[in-house]
Amino acid sequence: MKAIVVTDEAVGTAGMTLVERPVPQAAINDVIVEIHASGYVPTEVEWASTWTDRAGRDRAPSILGHELAGVVSALGYGTTGLSVGQRVFGLADWHRDGTLAQYVAIEARNLAPLPGDVDFTVGASLPISGLTAWQGLFQHGRLQAGQSVLAHGAAGAVGTMVTELAREAGAYVIGTGRAADRQKALDFGAHEFVDLESDTLEDVGGVDVVFDVIGGDIQKRSADLIRAGGTLVTVVGPPEARPAHGVAIDFVVESDRAQLGEIVQRVRDGRLRTNIDSVAALDDAVAALNPTERRKGKTIIRVRP
Ligand SMILES: NC(=O)c1ccc[n+]([C@@H]2O[C@H](COP(=O)([O-])OP(=O)(O)OC[C@H]3O[C@@H](n4cnc5c(N)ncnc54)[C@H](OP(=O)(O)O)[C@@H]3O)[C@@H](O)[C@H]2O)c1
Repeated sequence: MKAIVVTDEAVGTAGMTLVERPVPQAAINDVIVEIHASGYVPTEVEWASTWTDRAGRDRAPSILGHELAGVVSALGYGTTGLSVGQRVFGLADWHRDGTLAQYVAIEARNLAPLPGDVDFTVGASLPISGLTAWQGLFQHGRLQAGQSVLAHGAAGAVGTMVTELAREAGAYVIGTGRAADRQKALDFGAHEFVDLESDTLEDVGGVDVVFDVIGGDIQKRSADLIRAGGTLVTVVGPPEARPAHGVAIDFVVESDRAQLGEIVQRVRDGRLRTNIDSVAALDDAVAALNPTERRKGKTIIRVRP
């Protein structure tokens, strides 16, 4: 099968190549998915899990990509809950070969059914950003209607989902980002927008939840804005700051079939829009995933036409 691999951590993204690899075999509880579309997060080559397995052994060359939408083509021993021919989408294990390939072996529990009226391209754009936003807002941030959320990077992949889900849940959403992102963040539902390069972040006053996708100084200044009992949720590593009278939580997104179902249902009924900038074929993926211009949303690789 064709796959996009990286082989050398020192070279990073520049080392991405399209190669031939064996079709994977299904282990216990796995399914094999014939991939129709794949999503990729630009920071993947910086993750330790791209380079080692769970025992810490070198696993390069590694197939990149952790989001997928496709059709189940085989079942591993003892695997229940999914059937051959079923449309699925989901989040692949960080430490195993990924989804920028024609097939992937993946634990069935990491997948959810993809309804027939949702395009594979849309399905592949949802798992990481959708689940990260859902888990950050509702599980870790314990967001309630009437509260306020400071959604950093509100025009980005995670940030647009945070903005939409928080607003739908009845929260007041203050989006942030670069000046060029103002209109996009407002279009995705932010009530107001802070340009981090020229506005004063502190002018937003107090908030109940900060959803941080940036870290560093922005995270530290945001922690000071959190009201008593509020939460700093960050997805870019251990928190570097803590609210004086609240909690700070970092997490790595996990697959969850019920949450994937909630997310895709919102896409179907128009409550949630995905943030796709471009779609490219697998043969063109290396160039598409190494753009020379700033990304305006996710790049999805259409593996089967
Ligand atoms: N822990 C987890 O489970 C998890 C899950 C998903 C994502 N993540 C991480 O979360 C981060 C965001 O992911 P994403 O997919 O949403 O990325 P993305 O699509 O690039 O979105 C990030 C947004 O924030 C903006 N931004 C970044 N730094 C900024 C700054 N200093 N000032 C103003 N705007 C800034 C970016 O603008 P520019 O493009 O101009 O920089 C972009 O619009 C990544 O580091 C990713 O690895 C973690």
